[in-house]
Amino acid sequence: MKNKKTDDLPLLKRTDFALDFRWGCSTSSYQIEGGVDLDGRGESIWDRFCATPGHIRDGSSGAVACDHYHRWPEDLDLARSLGTNAYRFSIAWPRIFANGRGLAPNQKGLDFYSRMVDGMLERGLEPWVTLYHWDLPQALQEQGGWANRDTVDAFVEYTDVVSRHLGDRIKHWITHNEPWCTAFHGNYEGVHAPGLKDVKTALQVCHNVLVSHGLAIPVIRRNVPGARVGAALSLHPLQPASDSAQDVAATKRHDGLRNRWFLDPLHGRGYPADIWRILGDKAPVVQDGDLATIATPTDFLGVNYYFPEIVADAPGVGVMSTQVIESDNVERTAFGWEVSPEGMVTLLGRLAKDYQPAEIYLTENGSTYDDVLSPEGNIDDVERRRYLVRHLQATREIVAQGIPVKGYFAWSLLDNFEWAEGYIRRFGLTHVDFETQQRRLKLSGEWYGAFLKGEL
Ligand code: FCB
Repeated sequence: MKNKKTDDLPLLKRTDFALDFRWGCSTSSYQIEGGVDLDGRGESIWDRFCATPGHIRDGSSGAVACDHYHRWPEDLDLARSLGTNAYRFSIAWPRIFANGRGLAPNQKGLDFYSRMVDGMLERGLEPWVTLYHWDLPQALQEQGGWANRDTVDAFVEYTDVVSRHLGDRIKHWITHNEPWCTAFHGNYEGVHAPGLKDVKTALQVCHNVLVSHGLAIPVIRRNVPGARVGAALSLHPLQPASDSAQDVAATKRHDGLRNRWFLDPLHGRGYPADIWRILGDKAPVVQDGDLATIATPTDFLGVNYYFPEIVADAPGVGVMSTQVIESDNVERTAFGWEVSPEGMVTLLGRLAKDYQPAEIYLTENGSTYDDVLSPEGNIDDVERRRYLVRHLQATREIVAQGIPVKGYFAWSLLDNFEWAEGYIRRFGLTHVDFETQQRRLKLSGEWYGAFLKGEL
């Protein structure tokens, strides 16, 4: 390694993990591609959301982002140079159907992803595709977006087209990325596209997204021999702010909407009754058969792990009368997210105990810090490197406990458009100069590469 400042790092080797463990980086279409007007791509809800002043902290958008639309060969070279064996990316639905649905898909959009998938395979990167990482076609939003049941049908049609075209080469399919964020950031908090603030809408969005997940699974299986399908959930280990009965009950409610609301129905248990009762008339409309659809068996559970939460009772606050407490004395990233590899161990232990998924993949994990470019042109991001090392140690511990974690995808390969934060928050193992589009591997990326290539 170029930089030897690794003394404080605990020993970790790739050979501590199974030979077939998946090692990758994770990305998403709107955050890196740019090229929003090219080759027949339609408008997405993020293009529209970014156009409204005040929505994005630095007033930016994903219009250019990392220009990955043109630079993907270079970016895949980078992923290969790290020694990864898998690569997670998402498809921009508006590249396939500019208006969300239609008689004929946009061939140029399909060709783009087809070339990129070939590029992955040529480089020994197993493609892991996400069908929905938040860039809904704006035309569907005009009809009510995910709150409209028709969007479920549109998603299934889009899934059919994509899986028919790419299923000969892609075997790993993630239907949705973080349905909680789709529903609540986008439709209740209003901080993500489409920027709505209505709890009933958010809960209907949530339900329809889960139904679309269940309906997409048999379509993928029909079109893709040997397909392995799952969803990627954002999950959080929770702790009550105190031992008081109120805080303990609040934590159970918070868990009910943040974690169980997804895990329970996906595992055939329906929606948690305690939460359903609290929601009252805000609960979603559920059609006959929906719960069975949502519970369609999957091959793996994708877990995006970032941080734990400490929860207090807060009558009248939010949907569940709960509040997340910012405790002092904890280590945080520049985003304010608590750094807690122990939390990941707790979370995965709980998943294994309560839900027994056959396989778990850590489909995202990563950190943002205020990177500084040294006079020599290096990014010595020791904090991000430490975050990565500690979470891989935690992963090793989880595997040692017999929990079936089979892969780890670092968020993210590149600094990118971090949604409402614009370009302020950098999560990349690679620095991107957004003026010149120059890529520069950070210390954390060097470490990941050295670890994966057995050079530590
Ligand atoms: C996750 C998102 C991903 C990225 C990371 C930092 O919630 O799935 O796109 O924004 O957070």
